[in-house]
Amino acid sequence: MSDNTSAGHDFDFHGRSLDTIFETYKELQAKCPVGRSDKHGGFWFLTKSDDIFAAEQAPDTFSVAPSMLLPDFATDVPLIPIDIDPPEHTDYRRILLPLFTPKVIGRLDEGMHRTARELAVEVAAQEVADASHLFARPMPTIIFSRLAGFPEQDWPKFDQWVDDIIYERTVDYERARQAADEVFAYFDALLKSRTDDAGSDDLIYYLLTAEIKGRKLTHEELLSYCYLLFVAGLDTTAWAIRSSLWYLAQNPKAQARLRENPDEIPAAAEEFLRTLSPVQAMARTCLKDTEVRGQEIKEGDRVVLVFGAGNRDPEAYEQPDDIILDRQNNRHLAFGGGIHRCLGSNLGRQELVVALEEFLAVVPEFSLADPSEPWHGVGSLTLKIGR
Ligand code: HEM
Repeated sequence: MSDNTSAGHDFDFHGRSLDTIFETYKELQAKCPVGRSDKHGGFWFLTKSDDIFAAEQAPDTFSVAPSMLLPDFATDVPLIPIDIDPPEHTDYRRILLPLFTPKVIGRLDEGMHRTARELAVEVAAQEVADASHLFARPMPTIIFSRLAGFPEQDWPKFDQWVDDIIYERTVDYERARQAADEVFAYFDALLKSRTDDAGSDDLIYYLLTAEIKGRKLTHEELLSYCYLLFVAGLDTTAWAIRSSLWYLAQNPKAQARLRENPDEIPAAAEEFLRTLSPVQAMARTCLKDTEVRGQEIKEGDRVVLVFGAGNRDPEAYEQPDDIILDRQNNRHLAFGGGIHRCLGSNLGRQELVVALEEFLAVVPEFSLADPSEPWHGVGSLTLKIGR
């Protein structure tokens, strides 16, 4: 049993709570590694790497229904495949697999470099530049649109919707709801305009031609896939790029090292993902009474897997809070760790690596122009460019 469950009663993993969340994790891991928060209707939280991996691998105890998100992503319908439990989950996930193979992702590589370079040139042209809005946000949105078959020029619209849905939902739920309705209406029109198109090699094509147990997907299922991929793939990658640049802006030695040795960027990217994880936590619902680390959790209780804490667990990593650019055996939880493990991890990783390669190749030495800007989220990142 945790010795002090009351320590975490106001634990939250949204908004300004993220400013100091790494200190909070330390305290929770010491006092109540399995604890209870009163926020968002009340939930248990798991902060130890082992416990989180174990829960990830026990979908018969820890269900993703009604939503992996807490609070939900402003929808009433389960998002496919993230909010679906086995056995249905397997078939729903399988449909997306061809879209995320290394071969398909590899085909995006050249365009990814080109886009990242063009955006980086815009940053480099200024003395003070917002690298989030000019670089970290547009890049994944444009790349994903290419893969998905969404009109690339619509990216500023996508960007605003993602912001409203992901960030506003804890501040102004109605605004998030309205954005979600607009996204569904947008995909509804897009899908209808594509029904007789059989030639393209993109997400919409895969979804329109996919079969599940010998039948085509319903229109509602198609919409759910589009919505989930839209909210899962854009903000996460933008956050990963922004937070990596945030770190590099304050660490000129690390910046110079990666600029001179770009072959070290993939390992460094992994370390940024571990320590500055874009998805700090995801929720489950307990399907039967169970016990974690001696703490009883009842059927029906919400349980939050705090990936960000697990990723800094001193029992799992040496010097857990240090960013060690060439850390070895870096098995982390940034992409989850069970049957719902991120399907876009190859894509997200590659985008992050290419973004850092191009940014460091094009933009001269940069530093933070506004140190009050937080490490987290996809808000502005104002950089001073050049010495
Ligand atoms: C750095 C970027 C990314 C991070 C950190 C990230 C993180 C995550 C996490 C933590 C999960 C939940 C895993 C779990 O609970 O076990 C997840 C699921 C998922 N992600 Fe990502 N993600 C990223 C990029 C992407 C991209 C680019 C796409 C697609 C375009 C994507 C598509 C998905 C899908 C479809 C799922 C649900 C898988 C399932 O339920 O079987 N993600 N992601």
